[in-house]
Amino acid sequence: LRGDEVIVVSNREPYIHEIDEKGDLFVRRPASGLVTAIEPVMRACSGTWVAHGGGSGDRKTVDAHDRIKVPPGRDEYSLRRIWLTPDEEQGYYYGFANEGLWPLCHVAHVRPVFRESDWQAYQQVNRRFADAVIAEARSDDPIVLVQDYHFALVPAMIREKLPGATILTFWHIPWPNPESFGICPWRRELLQGLLGSTILGFHTRFHCRNFMETVDRYLEARIEQEHSIVSVQNTETYVESYPISIEWPAKDIAARWRPAEDCRAAVIQRLKLTPGHRIALGVDRFDYTKGILERLHAVERLLEKHPEWVGRFTLVQVAAPTRSSLEEYRSFQDRIERVCRRIAARFGSPGYEPVILLVEHHEHEQLNELYRAADVCLVTSLHDGMNLVCKEFVAARSDEQGVLVLSRFAGAAREMHEALVVNPYHVEECADAIHQALVMPAAEQRERMASLRMTVREFNVYRWAGRMLSDAARMRLRQRIEAR
Ligand code: G6P
Repeated sequence: LRGDEVIVVSNREPYIHEIDEKGDLFVRRPASGLVTAIEPVMRACSGTWVAHGGGSGDRKTVDAHDRIKVPPGRDEYSLRRIWLTPDEEQGYYYGFANEGLWPLCHVAHVRPVFRESDWQAYQQVNRRFADAVIAEARSDDPIVLVQDYHFALVPAMIREKLPGATILTFWHIPWPNPESFGICPWRRELLQGLLGSTILGFHTRFHCRNFMETVDRYLEARIEQEHSIVSVQNTETYVESYPISIEWPAKDIAARWRPAEDCRAAVIQRLKLTPGHRIALGVDRFDYTKGILERLHAVERLLEKHPEWVGRFTLVQVAAPTRSSLEEYRSFQDRIERVCRRIAARFGSPGYEPVILLVEHHEHEQLNELYRAADVCLVTSLHDGMNLVCKEFVAARSDEQGVLVLSRFAGAAREMHEALVVNPYHVEECADAIHQALVMPAAEQRERMASLRMTVREFNVYRWAGRMLSDAARMRLRQRIEAR
């Protein structure tokens, strides 16, 4: 693919410029698994990233073509920002993507909302992003990486104008079964849009199968199960699983990290815990799919069942604010805060908080310190495409200590077998897993962690992108041969 043009399209941008109270510009990195994964790939292959310019300082930093070189100061690739009107953002992003498709695909018992006006905005914004990609393209056969549920219609829109493009679409969230997906009034349009892709990727085989069964149910399509190919009219789409991952920290970076003991001491001091205190850590966007409520129930049950931990154990829950103009998210946050207060009333005492809820954005370095300080990392998503927090935790543990408790409903559970894998809905099982983690001998922690680290190091994000791109190269070659 050397010399080929690469264009990424996603809703969330990798660098958000904001203006602080004093009127000064600063850069923020978003809390997004998608951005965490794609950013190192873009740095490696340069090209253009088309995304929504959502920051208050975004307009101030672009050139006359709405472009800016990033990472700031390193200028490795180009970010092209698209401006959305408040109505477009409301209908397309908050409405159709996050009140419709997000709960539809996660099946986390939050009922999806489908409004005609949101659908209109979703189509309109998809058209605007597709047009921007077409305008950015310098060749008639670029490689376009379309990211996530915000842009289901974009692949077919690009295909129509640039038939020679190689379109790799990656769906970062789960794909449900045909019955669940079928409640969407625009299921056919969404499927047809996605089938403009050359390759359509999901995290797991299971999601690929669900997708193909959904197509089979609702479209007239030819499906070659054996080769994972779906054909509609004359377009063939290869449907494959590509488990996403993280960039494994370079040796010289990891060598500069403070020893885990120092991180632990710093966290204990900062959060006013007692020396010898045991720490469980949760790191999530404040989202109802992440199983934060179930995690709190498990902690409560642990303290009931094992009073020896009362006063000596704390769950530190980082909850990055997200989509908070949606009622569902605000009421979720209220509910979590209520449960935290209840647990504090039952088990807390002056100077002891069983749960510390940090509702704020954390930078990567701060998270790394927490990861290295924790005895246990709790990932209890009710449903998750992959989940990268568990991979970041493992990457941070160069001391090979610490235990991962992982939901079986996160895509990551298919790879990370040495975690303590739990059903987050089963409170008793989760409480027992936390206890098991807290009493696990150092040697067993080391064995499990060493093995998890091998997996994440090997199946890193470059492997993910590399597999997709080499499949794309194969398909490009075939197309060229067939066109002769
Ligand atoms: C998930 C989605 C991403 C999204 C991220 C953060 O990981 O798959 O597309 O960027 O959540 O959500 P937000 O709505 O803040 O971009």
